[in-house]
Amino acid sequence: MKTKVGIIGGGPSGLLLSQLLDLQGIDNIVLEKHSREYVLGRIRAGVLEHGFAELMREAQCGERMDAEGEIHEGFYIAEGGEKRRVDLDGHTGGNSVVVYGQTELTRDLYDARAKMDGKVIHNVEDVTLHNLKGDAPHITYREGDNIIRIDCDYIIGADGFHGVSRKSIPKDVLKEHEKIYPFGWLGVLSRTKPVSPELIYAKSDRGFALCSLRSQVLSRYYIQVPMSDTVEDWSDDAFWTELKARLPKEVAEGLETGQSIEKSIAPLRSFVAEPMRYGNLFLAGDAAHIVPPTGARGLNSAASDIYYLYHALLDHYKNDDDTGLENYSEKALARVWKAQRFSWWMTSLLHTFPENNAYDNRLQQTDMEYLFSSKAALTSLAENYVGLPF
Ligand code: APR
Ligand code: PHB
Repeated sequence: MKTKVGIIGGGPSGLLLSQLLDLQGIDNIVLEKHSREYVLGRIRAGVLEHGFAELMREAQCGERMDAEGEIHEGFYIAEGGEKRRVDLDGHTGGNSVVVYGQTELTRDLYDARAKMDGKVIHNVEDVTLHNLKGDAPHITYREGDNIIRIDCDYIIGADGFHGVSRKSIPKDVLKEHEKIYPFGWLGVLSRTKPVSPELIYAKSDRGFALCSLRSQVLSRYYIQVPMSDTVEDWSDDAFWTELKARLPKEVAEGLETGQSIEKSIAPLRSFVAEPMRYGNLFLAGDAAHIVPPTGARGLNSAASDIYYLYHALLDHYKNDDDTGLENYSEKALARVWKAQRFSWWMTSLLHTFPENNAYDNRLQQTDMEYLFSSKAALTSLAENYVGLPF
């Protein structure tokens, strides 16, 4: 087979780029390790920057997001028994975020690909990248006993943190930066009415908690837990009791509890791989970078990678201009690192750190006091949360 752009990974990054390119008549193939159902079974975050929402609309995939997603113009930070609102709209001159589950967004992308007869090949095995620096870059993969070869102009590694693409860059070229946090998030999905119309990020001596939602009948909650904990350590009752203990009293009293329909623990890590290009391979999304979920930047930092790659490939094929491709890694990393900084800062502000000494804890408290005493600090938080410009 031959295609212009070979995309490895049928998650949000790979699907969105595939859809955008196809709409411009740029031939591409997506290779996905798992089935569509498996990919759609993953529970992920649910806050979209306005830039991501715009990209979904440009990809003609924004209809259900606009119909079912919720525009949120602010969120709360709770601490010491009270909650204070961060006015996103007011601090950013009218910007906001869309609350819409990544699972639904990925479903919309799959449906759009199917509607255009997009080439998404599932259950591929042993994907291997070849000749990345040569003049015949190609991908091979196994389908049963057959080895299939796809010749491409360019290969996009959108195969997530555990994918094959990043690992195809020679170790003496790739530089990896990582920070591991000493805790995880225990998340619960429940068919209950959300406790608050807007998200509540709670800082408490017992640990961080987050009240989020997927719709008015589907709630998403998280509590910070030690990495030594397992899901089996937490019954639903134990989760609800601990969540209430970390929220202001009047919020806890309004919390509707119910059976968890999904419960899992996610570790928190910050990770960036540089460069995001090697020859004809371009990394995008989780394949190149990971953030702790605190700032809801995961999917949103993938969006700017896709935006840059889409325009760079468009310029290459339509205008014979390779400036975007040449600048991709530097440009993408500049915004990736800003999302890293913001995610690290929000994580540092809101979580309890077992190894902190008294000075560290006073510094953390001062950060919170300064935030709510300064219009500039709140503006900085708000402009990062709604999404810095692409
Ligand atoms: N061959 C083919 N596909 C692969 C391979 C491989 N060797 N390895 C992984 N994949 C697939 C995975 O099955 C997954 O569906 O690549 C896809 C990568 O998708 P994601 O991990 O969702 O990454 P991305 O599309 O960049 O989306 C980033 O997803 O994980 C969340 O928090 C993250 O919100 C962020 C978003
Ligand atoms: C979620 O709804 O899953 C969510 C929302 C905001 C975050 C992280 C996760 O910062």
